[in-house]
Amino acid sequence: MTYPIYLIGYMGAGKTTVGRLLAERLGWHFVDLDDAFHEIHGLSPADYIRTYGIEAFRRKEKYVLEDLAELPIEKVVYATGGGYPCWEDNMACLKELGTSFYLRWQPHHLAERLALTDLNERPLLHGKNATEILSVIMPQLEARAPFYEQADYILDAPVGDDGTIDGSEDEQLAEMLYDYIING
Ligand code: S3P
Repeated sequence: MTYPIYLIGYMGAGKTTVGRLLAERLGWHFVDLDDAFHEIHGLSPADYIRTYGIEAFRRKEKYVLEDLAELPIEKVVYATGGGYPCWEDNMACLKELGTSFYLRWQPHHLAERLALTDLNERPLLHGKNATEILSVIMPQLEARAPFYEQADYILDAPVGDDGTIDGSEDEQLAEMLYDYIING
């Protein structure tokens, strides 16, 4: 397996939480690319998109990831932005730079998780309940899935036998990833 590790997936997939837990366990660095974008450009991705539009954001986001990849540190877990892999040749870049893992969830579970978060940083979903969020994300997730599914590994989020989620999934995903990385 080549390093660094890139976690990809839709908003709410747990890329940041899982990535942080995983890096802690591995004793590696963790970088959230949305935070790195904010530090470099002085605006959060949401504010940048509101101010300059999505196209300008995607261009800058691409260079943030590629510039960081030039650093001579390999043992890094990166949480990518949810739309990053679906832009131009970004997925091919990721695969060349390191190992990518797609954190895959059923859309209704993503909607349930997103409804519990602060949606100010997610302008498309702001003010919506889980049902409304689901109707926004379903078509987008369908369009993005072919990109996400090019990841080197796909991890399906663990759900209970009754198909429900209980908040322990991020921990479990971090554990599954740790096993993959340590034991191959
Ligand atoms: C986006 C996801 C966000 C952020 C930006 C665009 C998207 O990242 O990069 O608001 O298009 O899905 P998270 O997936 O970390 O929320």
